[in-house]
Amino acid sequence: MNLDELRLKFSTIYGTRSMDAFFSPSRINIIGEHIDYNGGKVLPGAIELGTYGLVRKRGDNILCLASENIDLKVEVDIDDLRFNIEDGWGNYPKGVLYFIREAGYNIEGMDILIEGNIPNGAGLSSSASLELLIGEMVNDLFNGGRIPRIELVKICQRAENDFVGVKCGIMDQFAIGMGRRNKAILLDTNILKYEYIDMDLKDNIIVIMNTNKRRELSNSKYNERRAECELGLEIIRKYKNIENLCDLEIEEYERLRDYISQDNIRNRVEHAVYENHRVNRTSDALKKGDIQLVGRLLIESHNSLRNLYEVTGRELDCIVDSANEYPHCLGARMTGAGFGGCAIAIVKKNKVEEFMDFVGNRYREEIGYDGEFYITDIGDGVKKI
Ligand code: GLA
Repeated sequence: MNLDELRLKFSTIYGTRSMDAFFSPSRINIIGEHIDYNGGKVLPGAIELGTYGLVRKRGDNILCLASENIDLKVEVDIDDLRFNIEDGWGNYPKGVLYFIREAGYNIEGMDILIEGNIPNGAGLSSSASLELLIGEMVNDLFNGGRIPRIELVKICQRAENDFVGVKCGIMDQFAIGMGRRNKAILLDTNILKYEYIDMDLKDNIIVIMNTNKRRELSNSKYNERRAECELGLEIIRKYKNIENLCDLEIEEYERLRDYISQDNIRNRVEHAVYENHRVNRTSDALKKGDIQLVGRLLIESHNSLRNLYEVTGRELDCIVDSANEYPHCLGARMTGAGFGGCAIAIVKKNKVEEFMDFVGNRYREEIGYDGEFYITDIGDGVKKI
């Protein structure tokens, strides 16, 4: 990504006056998958891949959007913000503006050009990255930075839930809004209490592995899993007064599990309860520097997402299994919503090239096309640059 080139392109589209630049990261989730909508704990981090954006105030009420990644320009009146399928990616910025205004803050017209270096549909949360990018632009340009970051995070989640219509939890927006260099965020999604944990993996690093399988149809499957969890919660509540599935201790779940007669619902609940427990164990292991244990917990998490939660699929299983077969990989798992997209692996630093060859070859042989690998640091949340 070359910011000077992007500036030139901005000038070509919108004219040469001054402009401001922002960067919004994407995220990985170390562990705690599909439990941010079950009141569980998650352990994500912002990464240094993400979305760059240039912006200029227009002095009117028109929002102009252009992207270097997607050939679709959108121009809308900010006094008439409605979801429109034809506006494609532009619906995310529109949703953010809509809910910023609803929260009582100012919005005005802008010219915007964005360019991301994360592939769309890779499951690294390009949508939350875009939402926070636009949110921080509006915060900086028209509100003097007075929107508290956590409020902005919630506004962006609302844009996705109630404007775009994806019922995601808060993890992605939180990681992208609140990220900090070299730290994972241990977030209790029930009460939004959080703690930064050092991502010191000793002589290992995280490799992101992209299956290049686009996450199509994933939104409907995602919403289906949410509904299954709600059903599970309803059944459990007949026997135990809890607010969220992740309030259940493992022993309580084991005592109550037979009351859930449908196998798939019982499996979803079991995943949520044990995954939540694994998040605590992983953050303890990180604090103690026990990276071997972190790796083993990643593998357990993937198995649970494969067998109990059923959100992995052939491509993710293949890339994760191949990674786990490599001797200097401590553990791998899918990251994000699943159904394609990316996985992460903890790998010995000096073996990374060999690891990528090993996994890349196996993946191509089995699946018939290439996967991709990224190495990136854990970075800061959204900011002006
Ligand atoms: C997506 C959602 C998140 C979370 C993950 C699964 O990334 O946006 O809120 O539910 O899936 O852990």
